[in-house]
Amino acid sequence: MKAELFPAGSGSPGGLQIETMAQGDLPAVLRIEGLSFTTSWPANAFSNEIRDNKLAHYFVGRLDGEIVAYGGIWVILEDSHITTIAVHPDYRGQRIGEEMLLKLLDEAISQGASWITLEVRESNEVAQKLYRKYGFTTVSTRRGYYSDNGENALVMWAGNLKGELYGARLRVLRTALENESG
Ligand SMILES: CC(C)(COP(=O)(O)OP(=O)(O)OC[C@H]1O[C@@H](n2cnc3c(N)ncnc32)[C@H](O)[C@@H]1OP(=O)(O)O)[C@@H](O)C(=O)NCCC(=O)NCCS
Repeated sequence: MKAELFPAGSGSPGGLQIETMAQGDLPAVLRIEGLSFTTSWPANAFSNEIRDNKLAHYFVGRLDGEIVAYGGIWVILEDSHITTIAVHPDYRGQRIGEEMLLKLLDEAISQGASWITLEVRESNEVAQKLYRKYGFTTVSTRRGYYSDNGENALVMWAGNLKGELYGARLRVLRTALENESG
């Protein structure tokens, strides 16, 4: 089996520790959620996801013990869906979002997924750029998807996650991330 760069509970070279989200993490997660999204998930949405949804996999990223990021996916057989990803505003631009995305991709692949999809606001160019870096392309638009301002969602997708080509892409990105963080 291929070793993970940032297995759960271990530290990345940059000091980010990525672990499975627990109920006790929710106050910190909700603070970041409120700072990151105009329409926030309530506590019970996260709570239900990590307690009851067997298809869901949620993680937090810590720096010196403090939660600075989180992310989640659903994996349904060969399909996976990134449900959320966010980094505390004070810690953005330090490759933490990228490390969290890589963790979600590793988890999706290790759970057997071949495809991964997500929705992103049309105006969210930062997130779109991150996703494109990891091989996502826009496949459709959901008109008026976001209830707060009627903004469109772009549906982005990456496929053949277990294929040689995508594996090679991840290896290159992982090495670059490791070198930048180390
Ligand atoms: C999207 C988000 C998770 C990125 O996290 P981050 O830690 O700041 O990003 P990173 O430092 O890991 O940067 C990784 C890549 O993201 C993109 N990116 C990050 N900051 C960017 C910026 N200011 N402008 C353009 N692209 C940017 C780039 O592609 C970058 O890689 P590159 O520098 O090699 O091009 C973070 O901005 C965030 O939490 N945003 C609010 C919540 C959100 O929008 N989530 C996504 C919902 S779909």
